[in-house]
Amino acid sequence: MSTKTTKADYDEAAEFIRKRSRTLPEVGLILGSGLGDLVDEISDPDAINTQEIPHWPVSTVPGHAGRVVLGMLEGRTVMALQGRVHFYEGYTMDRVTLPVRVMQAMGVGTLIVTNAAGGLNPDFRPGDLMLIADHINLIGMAGHHPLRGPHDPDLGPRFPGMLGLYDPELRAIAREAASSSGFELREGVYICVAGPSYETPADVRFLRLIGADAVGMSSVPEVIVARHSGMRALGVSCITNMAAADATPPEDGDQDALHEEVLEVSQIVAPRLSAVVRGVLRGLDKN
Ligand code: HPA
Repeated sequence: MSTKTTKADYDEAAEFIRKRSRTLPEVGLILGSGLGDLVDEISDPDAINTQEIPHWPVSTVPGHAGRVVLGMLEGRTVMALQGRVHFYEGYTMDRVTLPVRVMQAMGVGTLIVTNAAGGLNPDFRPGDLMLIADHINLIGMAGHHPLRGPHDPDLGPRFPGMLGLYDPELRAIAREAASSSGFELREGVYICVAGPSYETPADVRFLRLIGADAVGMSSVPEVIVARHSGMRALGVSCITNMAAADATPPEDGDQDALHEEVLEVSQIVAPRLSAVVRGVLRGLDKN
């Protein structure tokens, strides 16, 4: 028996949300670690606790509040996910990406994902924002792919193409939004690992060698499902730390405190992220 979620499950979750909000969202937003405060900028919000939504996977990580907020931002109807779930929490990729399927069932045509990531590119600094130009689906290549399993042609193709995955027009709008707010975006390749442990220096050398600029534990499965569902996608990584480049443990001896650092830095960068997301929402008309 397959445990894969089905279109009936997505429709049931979407129906539940429709009963709680009259907003018909055009844009989906998934907000990563420490980046969830952007939902406070949504006007006329309808907030739903994810525990209430049928089939919805519930977040277990500090910094991931677990709310869906529907409303208006920059004149657009949005459905924002404050707190995502991750593969390392024990969910299958199918469950991890259920919110994207539900967004599609709600009518979302554009998905913006954000995340906290470790910098691999030596030119990057904590606090930089990186536009995702492309990704490496390392966990997918290792077998944990969100489209693995029985194929339902109503959801999308069996073998979807992945070219132009991070929409070039949306990226151009994001670049413009950043520069008109007075900062530059970095741009690069995001690689998705399973986590939850952070990388060893040898991991970091490997990830750099295969062409990645930033490493994180999310987003890639969501963007693949967005493409599969026919949505346009944009991804922005907040570089919260440099991934461990040398083997020396920190002087204070506390290498387990990195998650707190990730949350702290993402809080600091959040206003810039907000400027980019708002700029993209404003610029959507131009397409
Ligand atoms: N590695 C993996 N995931 C992350 C990191 C990191 O250094 N920082 C934030 N998310």
